[in-house]
Amino acid sequence: MTLREQVEQDFHTRFGAAPTAVVRAPGRVNLIGEHTDYNDGFVLPIAIDREVWIALRPREDRRVVVHSLDYGASLSFELGSLSRARTEWGEYLKGCAWVLQEAGHTLKGWEGVMGGDVPRGAGLSSSAAVELATQRAFATVSGLPWQPAAMALLGQRVENQWMGLNSGIMDQMIVAGGRSGHALLIDCRDLSLQAVPLPTGAVVVVLDTGTRRGLVDSAYNERRSQCEAAARFFGVKALRDVDVGSFAKREHELDPLVRRRARHVITENDRTVQAAEAMRAGDLTRLGRLMDESHDSLRDDFEVTNEALDTIVRLARAEPGCFGARMTGAGFGGCAVALVTPGQADAFVGSVHAKYTQATGNTPQCYVCQAAEGASVV
Ligand code: GLA
Repeated sequence: MTLREQVEQDFHTRFGAAPTAVVRAPGRVNLIGEHTDYNDGFVLPIAIDREVWIALRPREDRRVVVHSLDYGASLSFELGSLSRARTEWGEYLKGCAWVLQEAGHTLKGWEGVMGGDVPRGAGLSSSAAVELATQRAFATVSGLPWQPAAMALLGQRVENQWMGLNSGIMDQMIVAGGRSGHALLIDCRDLSLQAVPLPTGAVVVVLDTGTRRGLVDSAYNERRSQCEAAARFFGVKALRDVDVGSFAKREHELDPLVRRRARHVITENDRTVQAAEAMRAGDLTRLGRLMDESHDSLRDDFEVTNEALDTIVRLARAEPGCFGARMTGAGFGGCAVALVTPGQADAFVGSVHAKYTQATGNTPQCYVCQAAEGASVV
């Protein structure tokens, strides 16, 4: 049974009728442009065919009642009196109700069943998928206009102000605006998008190390402050405004740690723009090399990889048909992404799985991903 069928069937059992709407929102994998979004820079992610689904129908009152298949738990709250509690998945739903009302929207109540297959804590934006699916559910029952960038910004506010995570805009932008068969080059300063077709000569393989990040919030916020310190040193709004040449002229004046952090962001921005060009030109060798360089920079200068990520990336790169591989997402654990010749993808997955298991004792999850559409009503 597909996930869509599961949420529809469970809805029927629970509420005694068919849902009046079904919404979905994808996870994402970032091909390149890591830790650049909160520096007003560029990112190049795809939305993936791992998704969160909600089957729902409106209610007469202003109550929201949702059952989560993944947590085997239900949640019920009143739109007029929202307060924070630590129920994890439920907080994303309440946060979405809060932010939409803060933005001036009048919301109606609904009841629904939610289920998904975006792995949690793996760096594939399961939380942005829950946010955008929930926002689509509210928009559908309340008749709100759907503008992907505006909704992405509201989703980011849920993370920043309701959940207390100081994350950037990449995840919500790609989850809201993803295009089937395309990566999006997103300018995180003005939120303009360019859809770049994925070259036919490669498939995207996600390599989940099975390790999960710990203490990531404090390390993430620390990286942000170091980038902000570097931007202040250069007298600019964000590191996006410093190019590789200007950095080279003055980098020796910087504190060594801040210098390495800034060097990652500045070179990564440059690599991301180049990667979009390489993708358009179908130059997979160049694209793969840029991904490799991105990982090395995240490992050596930004220091957000871990042993498991470095191992799986090293093993992936050594396989025939692999153009390049790197960690993806915030880092400190979770997933890597590799670009592989389609005909060699099965052998690649089998071999990396075996060698990584043998090297680390962890069992990875390795799978080919398709580039999917952003959040939608189906
Ligand atoms: C997390 C954040 C994003 C981005 C990445 C790193 O996924 O949510 O905003 O900063 O880390 O590129």
